[in-house]
Amino acid sequence: MNTYLLFKSIHLIAVISWMVGLLYLPRIFVYHSENIENENSSNIFKTMERKLFYYIMTPAMILSWIFGLLLIHTLGFSIFSELWMQIKVISVVILTIYHLYLGSCVISFANNQNNNSSKFYRIINEIPTLLLIIIVFMVVFKPL
Ligand code: HEM
Repeated sequence: MNTYLLFKSIHLIAVISWMVGLLYLPRIFVYHSENIENENSSNIFKTMERKLFYYIMTPAMILSWIFGLLLIHTLGFSIFSELWMQIKVISVVILTIYHLYLGSCVISFANNQNNNSSKFYRIINEIPTLLLIIIVFMVVFKPL
């Protein structure tokens, strides 16, 4: 068994699961903030947000990091001297901060303390899309 390809396969499965959550959770926030008065709907959204964030996104983020670092370990840390890898890691760190921010929004909604508008969530929903494009082009083309 080629462990490098095994690590990369698990890395990609974890990354896809993480990105699905990063793109979908803000959409739930959009509809939640537009239906905050409806207690029944709000409780359903709270359950969706909590399960998506804690049961799917966070384990997927941790696995993306573990198998990403295992790939770096296999390739050798000299890979950090390559600009494409530096840009990728900076983008992934921003994605991780974004993930943690979404987690704080899950807690705000759970405590009925959300102050952000649905327009705000529509706008920040573009952040992971932009980072996804940068990361995939950097890691596939390795242009720099
Ligand atoms: C969480 C921290 C991450 C680390 C440390 C990391 C590190 C790595 C490394 C070292 C490789 C192998 C590169 C190669 O074989 O040339 C790799 C492959 C890859 N990574 Fe990541 N990565 C991370 C997150 C992500 C994220 C968030 C995405 C997408 C949004 C991503 C997308 C990819 C893709 C598509 C490949 C396969 C590239 C290929 O086979 O040519 N990675 N990653």
